[in-house]
Amino acid sequence: MAHYPVLLNEVLEYLSIDASGLYVDCTLGESHYAEAILARLDTGRLIAIDRDRDAIESARRRLSEWGERVSFHHGSYGDIETMLGAERPQGIVADLGLSRGQFETPERGFSFQQNGPLDMRMDRTQQLTAATIVNHYDEREIADLIYGFGEERRSRRIAKAIVRGRPIRDTVHLAGIVARAVPRTPRMKIHPATKTFQAIRIAVNAELEELDRFLETAPLLLAPGGRMAVVSFHSLEDRRVKQAFRGWQAREVLEPLHKRVVRPTDQEIAENPASRSAKLRAAERTLNSWLPLN
Ligand SMILES: C[S@@+](CC[C@H](N)C(=O)[O-])C[C@H]1O[C@@H](n2cnc3c(N)ncnc32)[C@H](O)[C@@H]1O
Repeated sequence: MAHYPVLLNEVLEYLSIDASGLYVDCTLGESHYAEAILARLDTGRLIAIDRDRDAIESARRRLSEWGERVSFHHGSYGDIETMLGAERPQGIVADLGLSRGQFETPERGFSFQQNGPLDMRMDRTQQLTAATIVNHYDEREIADLIYGFGEERRSRRIAKAIVRGRPIRDTVHLAGIVARAVPRTPRMKIHPATKTFQAIRIAVNAELEELDRFLETAPLLLAPGGRMAVVSFHSLEDRRVKQAFRGWQAREVLEPLHKRVVRPTDQEIAENPASRSAKLRAAERTLNSWLPLN
């Protein structure tokens, strides 16, 4: 979960904003990045994307003073190519994961600290919810997704307990079942249900598929010399970003803007411990790759 705004100065530095440019914020969230980008534009524009309609609606109000300079798209950044049409931005940023508002609103069902429904949809217009996975998927499927998306070694035990515990009513009920299946050991720094919740959330929102679709298309949409910055919060995401950027570098489409992955400063981590797992990767579209690639 992200507290705000994470790695904002670094993102702005790597985007190196041109006041007359076109920018895309693929994860509008609570508009911190969006506002900071807009404040650096004069004739430039910002396209803001989020798959959460609530985020779009609150941002429309919060960013109303910018008028036509900002436009909004409800949908997934996996569809960025369709959303942009013929537009070729100077910068694209994605700050992955959940916003604090989503996490801290119990009715959204992302948290086990506060009770809520088994929902976990970022886009509440989609059908699949956490309840379907938890109460209807078979044990093997649940074990596989907890292992794959939660990197949880004890996935089989947890899946068995989930199936035995059905029907599971809400987030606190689910967290209790997981905690009883894998009791906390003194060395454990996180709640025993953290990885399971992460895994179910990733599955509900098809997060890794959407990220892959984004990473496969976004670099080719940048204007020559345009820049792209991606902030991720766990290794499953960062690994994908790293590999995708390497692939684009091999095709001479992107050039990395830093040697080592960029992390929050000690000061940012001290002020905002939730930023500690954040990693930023940024790259620039090469000038000689402005030809259609297949
Ligand atoms: C970490 S928050 C972004 C915070 C934002 N940078 C800010 O300054 O407030 C992530 C946001 O991305 C959205 N999101 C996650 N996956 C998405 C996707 N595939 N497509 C579009 N938006 C997505 C979430 O709904 C959430 O609002």
